[in-house]
Formats: sequence, structure tokens, C-alpha cells
Amino acid sequence: MMFYVGIDLGTSAVKLLLMDEKGQIAKIVSKEYPLSFPKPGWSEQNPSDWYEKSMEGLKELISEVDKSQIAGIGFGGQMHGLVVLDENDEVLRPAILWNDGRTEKQVKYFNEEIGRDKISQYTGNIAFAGFTAPKILWMKENEPELFAKIAKIMLPKDYLAYRLSGSFCTDYSDASGMLLLDVEHKCWSKEMLSLCDIREEQLPKLYESYDKVGTLKPELAEELGLSADVVIAAGAGDNAAAAVGTGTVGSGKCTISLGTSGTLFITADEFAVDANNALHAFAHADGRYHLMGCMLSAASCNKWWMDDILKEKDYAGSQEGIDRLGENHVYFLPYLMGERSPWNDVDARGAFIGMSMDTSREDMVQAVLEGVAFGVRDMYEAAKSAGVCMERAKICGGGAKSPLWRRMIANILNLKIDIPACEEGPGMGGAMLAMVAQGAYPSVEKAAEAIVQTAGTIEPEAELVAKYEERYRSFRKLYPALKDIYPAL
Ligand code: XUL
Repeated sequence: MMFYVGIDLGTSAVKLLLMDEKGQIAKIVSKEYPLSFPKPGWSEQNPSDWYEKSMEGLKELISEVDKSQIAGIGFGGQMHGLVVLDENDEVLRPAILWNDGRTEKQVKYFNEEIGRDKISQYTGNIAFAGFTAPKILWMKENEPELFAKIAKIMLPKDYLAYRLSGSFCTDYSDASGMLLLDVEHKCWSKEMLSLCDIREEQLPKLYESYDKVGTLKPELAEELGLSADVVIAAGAGDNAAAAVGTGTVGSGKCTISLGTSGTLFITADEFAVDANNALHAFAHADGRYHLMGCMLSAASCNKWWMDDILKEKDYAGSQEGIDRLGENHVYFLPYLMGERSPWNDVDARGAFIGMSMDTSREDMVQAVLEGVAFGVRDMYEAAKSAGVCMERAKICGGGAKSPLWRRMIANILNLKIDIPACEEGPGMGGAMLAMVAQGAYPSVEKAAEAIVQTAGTIEPEAELVAKYEERYRSFRKLYPALKDIYPAL
């Protein structure tokens, strides 16, 4: 029996999962680290926190198993974050994360001055504030001395792979979100590099997510008590890794993630871009492609509402009394960090609307969950306009633990929702990618067939679907009505 480690490098914490090759989970460890918002709409983290917490978690994770049985490590990492190192491998500045909105000007430059058509032709995507290329330009314009010192540019999980293995690498799924990759042809775009004033030597070597990029550095193997033959897999962006972990591989499958962000992920055999670039067209961790919508605040809306506003630890208890689904008069707009899909608006902000004197705390809790689910529906509408047709989807992420939230999603999207036996999508996907890299399975699909199990399905209920359809129509009018007010806030 061999064991594999999946490292889900998230935004609020790193979650490490230990799994055998049959898919039995032996242990899960989670270590939190701080997230800083130095200015409104900015979002940063220290790469050294990722490394230190991952090492701390790794030690705890493997403390009770025979260490000679650990064969591989793989990653699912928060996407798009800009990590920059100087020639001595020192981190030049805190990482600028996927939900950071400082690059409005640079996004305009790409999409309007250079033009959406050209950027989409070079990369398969248009610019969004959280993507990596606009952040590189932001550094060039705002921190020229630091920009001049950049020797290596990498993504969050690639920083971990680099520290653990010494290999300066990335994978196609994560690289897709940099706006530097020609996604269809899986190579760096010369045009984008030139627009960002960077050279290919500054970028990592590209791999498939299930490729071996190296082995554990000997000094770390010794510190951890592991063999120096432990395989390090390239890993994937957290959404592609989560798709692997939920068995969303092959063609025409869908998974919804309710994590800090919310995503709708649709697999495809061939590369395709939707007419308006409303969805991201990225490479998948199984060697193929996918389309994805991403909302910047999903389970984080509930976390903010419960922790920061209500100061309430009992999430499940607060949802217990909520039974009037489809009848809530209160709406919540989930744009606490601006919004990517479908609005691409860094100025958008959260809002409650529709309260009256009889509005209760439960109505507000319900509105937050529903607002996020309506946001997922917005992404689904974009997928439908791109011709995607689906009957069912998997669900994963912290929010997927809530039966109420899952039921709302099933009814607001009118989709059958399959609940995976384990909702730790990215960690599980990371471990599965390590299995393929180490040779335990010949392909990601074979690993998924052998490992992923479904615990149940939530069917949409006709009456609720109809009620929610009407509510969604009202929700859909709210952002356009507020849009012009946001910039002045
Ligand atoms: C996807 C995205 C988020 C992060 C969350 O485009 O920005 O889902 O990957 O970690």
C-alpha cells in the first residue's frame, strides 16, 4: 500500500490530505494563514506563510504512517496569484492574489487599447483583474525597482513545488489563468510576454498536471523523514484539481465549487472559446480543456456574514430554521470583492435589498446563501448561451457541506446535484495527480474511475424550481440597476 499527499493551497488555509492508491483517506490536516487587504479591493498573502504552514501540516499529516510508504505529493493551488522572486530566490513582494482588484487600468489597457479580440486570439481569454498578466504590468508601472529585479514569475502552488523540489515549473491548467499562455497550443504567448515586458526565462517550464516535475529535495526528505524518491507532481489550479477530485474528467461534465470563490467548471475534449469570452477557456488537468465561470466571493460571503457580522460560530444551527425556500423577499448581491463572472466589474460591491419590518435574521441568512446560488446561476446562464447543455453537476468546497445550500443550488439551477463522498476536491485531485505522476495509474481518467465515489444525488423539485425561477428574474435586474452607483462608492 502506498500513500499520496494532496496539498490544497487555498486562500484561507492550506489543507493537506493523505490518501492511499485506492482512495481511502487516512488523514486531513488544515493550517490557516492570514490574508491581508492592504487597500479596499486589494488582496495579498506571504508565500513564506504558504511554505511554512504546508511543512507544518505535512509533518502532522504523516506523523502516524510508515513514512517509507509515502510515494508522491501533488497540488491544487489558488489560481492567478503573482509570486515574484529575485535572482537569489528571495520573494520580492507579497503575492497579489486571484481576488485582488487593483489592476483596473491594466485590464482596460489589454481589453480596450490592445483589444479583446487580439488578447483572446493570443490566449483564448480576455483580461480580468485577478489574472496574472495585468498584475505584472501593475508592478511595472507602480513598483519599477522591484519589477526590474524579477528573475522568476510563478503561481502560488508552483512556489511550493519549487521550494519542495527545486523545479521551476507550472502546469497548463494553472498557467491558463496567467493570460500569458496560448491555451489552445499550450505554449507561452510571445505577444503577451512582449506586452508585459517579460522574457520566457522568467517563466516556469510547462508540464501536464499529472507529470512528475522532480523529487523531494534531499535535505527536506531528511527533515520530514521521507525518501528522497518521493515524486512531486506538477499539480493543477485548484478548480481543475477539484474537478479531478470529483471525477469531472473526460468530456461534457460539470462541477460546481463553493469555496472562497464559486466556480462552474465544464469539461471539454476540444479547445473552445465562447462568443463573448464570458467564461474562461482553460486547459484541464486531465490533458484536455475546460470552460469555467468564477465568482469572487461564494462561501466567503457566508463566512463574512456569520463570522464578522453576526459573530455566530454555529453555521449549521443558523440554517436549521430556514424552510420557506423560494419565498424570500430579501436579496443579497454577493460582490464583496467586486465580481468576475459574469460582470467583470472590480467596483461592484455587496448589497442587501428588500428588507421590511418583518424581515428576520433567518431571512438575511437565507438571502446570503441564495445570493451566492443566484450568482452560480448567472454563470450557468453564460454556459447555456455558449451552447452547453447539462442535466447534472457535482458539487464540492466548504459550502457543499451545507444540505440547505446544496438544495438551493439544485433548484435555482434546475440541475441534479451529485454529492461526492468527499468534498475535499482540490486536495483529493492533487493526491490523484501525484498517483498518475508516480505511475500508480496510467491516466487521470483511470484514477478517477477507480477512486471517486458519489454519496447521493439531490433532485430539483418542480415547485421550488418554478418559485426560484421568478426570484432569479428579479435578482438578475439588481446589478444592472446598481452598476452606475458602484464606482462612486
Ligand atoms: C478561478 C479563481 C478562483 C481561485 C480560488 O479563476 O480565481 O477560483 O482559483 O482559489
